[in-house]
Amino acid sequence: MHRAPLPYGRGSATELSRDRQGAAYSGAALQSVGFGHPSAMSNVIVLGAQWGDEGKGKIVDLFSDRFDFVARYQGGHNAGHTVQVGERKFVLKLIPSGVMHPHVRVVIGNGVVVDPQALLDEIEMVEKMGVDVQKQVAVSNRCHIIFPFHRLIEKVSESRADRVAIGTTSRGIGPCYEDKIGRRGIRMADLLDPQIFDTLYGYLADDKRILANAFHKGDALNLEEARDQYHHMAEKIRPLVCDTAKLLNDAIAAGKRVMFEGAQGTMLDVDHGTYPFVTSSSAAAGGACTGTGVAPTKIHGIIGVSKAYITRVGGGPFPSEDVGPDGHHIREAGHEYGSVTGRPRRCGWFDAPLLRYTAMVNGFDTLIVTKLDVLDDLEKLKVCTGYRLNGQPVEAMPATNALLAQVQPVYETLPGWCVPTAGTTRWDDLPARARDYLAFLEEKTGVEIGCVSTGPERMETIVRQGSKLERLLEL
Ligand code: IMP
Repeated sequence: MHRAPLPYGRGSATELSRDRQGAAYSGAALQSVGFGHPSAMSNVIVLGAQWGDEGKGKIVDLFSDRFDFVARYQGGHNAGHTVQVGERKFVLKLIPSGVMHPHVRVVIGNGVVVDPQALLDEIEMVEKMGVDVQKQVAVSNRCHIIFPFHRLIEKVSESRADRVAIGTTSRGIGPCYEDKIGRRGIRMADLLDPQIFDTLYGYLADDKRILANAFHKGDALNLEEARDQYHHMAEKIRPLVCDTAKLLNDAIAAGKRVMFEGAQGTMLDVDHGTYPFVTSSSAAAGGACTGTGVAPTKIHGIIGVSKAYITRVGGGPFPSEDVGPDGHHIREAGHEYGSVTGRPRRCGWFDAPLLRYTAMVNGFDTLIVTKLDVLDDLEKLKVCTGYRLNGQPVEAMPATNALLAQVQPVYETLPGWCVPTAGTTRWDDLPARARDYLAFLEEKTGVEIGCVSTGPERMETIVRQGSKLERLLEL
């Protein structure tokens, strides 16, 4: 495949990077510490290193150019990936962000839950932008289907007076995954077979009727009407549906490259996140294999994406949250409002222990730091470098929210750079204090920073020369 140069800036050859222990090394030294060159067919996972909204949309869109396939492996239309191309800004919820590159085939893997109406709306949107959907979009025959009753049940459970609300996106994601794990869910292949669908839908509808009646919501169900609509929508989606595990594995066997795209972030992973304030799927790197049917041995690199600070939407503990003027400043400067729900995001300081934890469960090879420019005007920057509990350092991420809510963040304060970095495309053009800040994050997390984003545009990106990221993506 012909690949044109990508539109972004470069770091200098002499700049420092860090190895996993935080020691400084030059690009050449990377070879000698055993990182080695990836094969010419590197498949990589790109995923969020925090609580979601790390800016993966732009990153996946930008680097998709180096891949033949981009595959989503979990979540549903709860995720919102904002992509800006020139003046045009759009939010993709289900369709992977690589779709704007005509040579890239995008895959909605079996681990994703699909609301057919949301998918059709999004297809209509990208078609209007010139995307050849039939050629580019493939949907797994094993995806589970979201129904209106999933949303209703979620609403009921979120509004119970005696329970703590998770603060979900109200898209019915959790109840759909519940049915999947409960082995009563309906998959895309079932939806496409009218007889099988009617039978399975009948069983599921019976259960939901009982549940809704117990909460005095039976009248709101409209089960028959929904069934007919789903028959209708199935016919529109049918041409896009296939066995995407086979599609991806055949492509890999033929030397094609795949980028796996995580939605949400690691701290929202149902196993490794701040349970129960999590989403209901495996957002961490392991989910890429179960959510697409591609084996771990076929994946060569794992790229984490983190903001230069941190945000979270919904409930749950947040050790480095700043509810004062600095947090407010970050929210406004970073436009930190949900791209799907519009909710204001909670904002705070970069949390190194959290990043060390997500680096551990994902095995990050490299980190992409986004939204550096949002910190431009702050005179002092705090970084959480550790947690303490009852005066003692906390070595492992607490398993309960009660404990995580009690930890005391330990902060180090760095001087801000107070000059604009927005739009900077060369490492050497960053102010020295911004470079020091990034070096400090590398040291405290033990992960190299291979790329920095300084604005929403594709061009507003710096890739560091000699980094593992550069070699994984064959830039
Ligand atoms: P659900 O995924 O709608 O079930 O919501 C569960 C939790 O995940 C809530 O705290 C949501 O705010 C959060 N969440 C879900 N999707 C995203 C996302 O794309 N970005 C940030 N938070 C999300």
